Amino acid sequence: MTSKPNTPASKTTGARLRADDIVTPKRGESKKDAPKAAKKAEAKAPKTTNKAASGDKKRRAKVIAFANQKGGVAKTTTALNLAVALKESGHKVLAIDMDPQGNLTMSQGIDPDKVDKSMFDVLVHEMSLREVIAEREIDVAVSSIDLAGAEIAMAAQIGRERRLQKAVNEIRGDYDFICIDTPPSLGLLTINALTAADKVIVPVQCEYLSMRGLMQLQNTLRMIRENLNPKVEIEGILPTMLDSRTVHAKEAIEILEENFGDLVFQSRIKKAIKFAEAPVRGASVLKYDPKGKAATYYRDLAKEVISHE
Ligand SMILES: Nc1ncnc2c1ncn2[C@@H]1O[C@H](COP(=O)(O)OP(=O)(O)OP(=O)(O)O)[C@@H](O)[C@H]1O
Ligand SMILES: [Mg+2]
Repeated sequence: MTSKPNTPASKTTGARLRADDIVTPKRGESKKDAPKAAKKAEAKAPKTTNKAASGDKKRRAKVIAFANQKGGVAKTTTALNLAVALKESGHKVLAIDMDPQGNLTMSQGIDPDKVDKSMFDVLVHEMSLREVIAEREIDVAVSSIDLAGAEIAMAAQIGRERRLQKAVNEIRGDYDFICIDTPPSLGLLTINALTAADKVIVPVQCEYLSMRGLMQLQNTLRMIRENLNPKVEIEGILPTMLDSRTVHAKEAIEILEENFGDLVFQSRIKKAIKFAEAPVRGASVLKYDPKGKAATYYRDLAKEVISHE
């Protein structure tokens, strides 16, 4: 269910984090790709509003993708726990598992090896999302292991980048928020998620902070905006798995804020063992330990996301 971060620990642990190590663009990356320029572009993009909160009769879901091509940065943990926190605050929420690893599906107690209809069918056979939704703490559109073959199966299909967007648009009226978990890559599954999304939340593990990775993600978003989905923008960059006692983590956040300014959420997700325990029980931390600190981190994030409306 869990997966290891794919950044070598040796690069950052034990040694003081140097801003240059992670900010300086590497060979092949032009100046215009620098994070500051990217931040400016983000800041310029108009904010969209969504009035689909509870009580409003006409729902039109805000669609949020959780993306970072780096593995193990808490994409799935954030997608699930934010989704549950948004539900707790009275919203109707769907989570879509676009990762063949099926971690979000498993985190709601469903075995991805045993489902007969999954996001594979939605993407490859244009099945309705409604047919692959399981009702758990929140509604979950489930993944299965065969989703790994979806990129190849879609490769020769027309409109392959827009399959998820099409499916999501059909059910936007049923929800206030749709949270899409993505795999640790910028392949066709993630491209589908970014094309379907209004907003992107980028979880960043401060310990393994990679500005270079964030710049790659910004470049992909720019490409998506130019070719597939002009309105998609970053909702926020979320520092996760924070050990706020270490100088290293403080520096990492300072560097993030220097480079991305207001795009960095005020909310902080600190390290807590409950985050590793909850998925084993097939539950969010909000259900597993409702009064614990870990749950409050995501309740605070939900408030911040709602305040952006
Ligand atoms: N705040 C936290 N404190 C401690 N452990 C955490 C925290 N958030 C997530 N984890 C744990 O870290 C691991 C990786 O988290 P998660 O699966 O959410 O990352 P991911 O980005 O979705 O990974 P992948 O790229 O493989 O999909 C999991 O075991 C998870 O339980
Ligand atoms: Mg994941």
